[in-house]
Amino acid sequence: MKMLVTGANGFVAGSVIAQAAGNWEVHGIARTVTGNKNNPLNHHVCDLVDSGKFTKLFERLQPDVVVHAAAIANIDFCQDNRETAKSVNVDVTRTVAELCKSSGTKLVFCSTDSVFDGIKGDYSEEDATNPVNFYAETKVQAEQIVLEASAKNVVARLALVIGLPVSGKGNSFLIDMINKLNRNEKVNYPQNEIRTPVDVITLGAALVELAGNDFHGTIHLSGNTKINRFSMANYVAGVLEFPEETKSLILGTNSNAIAGRAKRPNDASMINDKAKQVLKTPMLSLADGLALTLNKNAKTNGNGYYKIWS
Ligand SMILES: NC(=O)c1ccc[n+]([C@@H]2O[C@H](COP(=O)([O-])OP(=O)(O)OC[C@H]3O[C@@H](n4cnc5c(N)ncnc54)[C@H](OP(=O)(O)O)[C@@H]3O)[C@@H](O)[C@H]2O)c1
Repeated sequence: MKMLVTGANGFVAGSVIAQAAGNWEVHGIARTVTGNKNNPLNHHVCDLVDSGKFTKLFERLQPDVVVHAAAIANIDFCQDNRETAKSVNVDVTRTVAELCKSSGTKLVFCSTDSVFDGIKGDYSEEDATNPVNFYAETKVQAEQIVLEASAKNVVARLALVIGLPVSGKGNSFLIDMINKLNRNEKVNYPQNEIRTPVDVITLGAALVELAGNDFHGTIHLSGNTKINRFSMANYVAGVLEFPEETKSLILGTNSNAIAGRAKRPNDASMINDKAKQVLKTPMLSLADGLALTLNKNAKTNGNGYYKIWS
């Protein structure tokens, strides 16, 4: 079975590739070649906005499933660069969905907890979306495209993803925090943003499982712990055994009081009951997820990648 993963150099896709290796023939698309020589990946360089080039590649590969993780995930960039954000997050998703539809390929799309307005919290898959920024608007539009294209497709709404990149690079807040604290720099994390973080390894395993099982529709992939981002940063720094003096460099902010930034949902916590029913991959607490991504409990699959089920 052949899996095509978009955004192959990204944080989430890196874990999907690692978890799928061995059980799937994995093909990744990225705009540049990954620097990781051990990556068990058939790597294809393609800007997805070039729909002609992408279509040719897709038709040549004929994947059985696509995990679509490529996106512009920087919320403030999306707010200020709407045309670019729409072209990658919406138009590219439409192309992916149409190609999958015409070839009968299952599509697993990475959406976000940001589709909610953050007023209520504890969102289930049945709750209405109500985006508060342009990034979230693009994700809501893309969700609709994916679900309308085929009854076999999956919209996986990811909570805040924590952990160390498994392969490739990507947008891990943890690396940024560790680097800054090691340089004795102050870091700001919002107290108003309540999330249910999921570790990147559990997430990769869950997305691979969704690629290979019969589930279709919308599913929330989130952890069991509801916590604000400032408390989470403090907790992580504690687990990493940073001294109290260094931990005092972690400052609490209100992200919605910073001028010039796109609005964020306050409480975007998600309920993961459906994931617990549907998936073999266990949804974890923050403590267990961190232990996994910080390599304390993980088993390697022989390539230096961590797998939690096979
Ligand atoms: N990380 C989180 O906490 C989180 C939470 C909720 C949802 N998500 C969603 O999960 C998905 C993956 O996020 P992530 O954290 O892994 O982000 P990421 O590390 O920024 O990865 C996204 C990847 O998409 C690629 N990409 C962007 N535009 C492209 C284009 N035109 N053609 C080809 N590739 C392109 C980027 O390539 P370049 O490296 O070349 O820029 C990047 O490697 C996204 O859909 C995001 O919205 C993430």
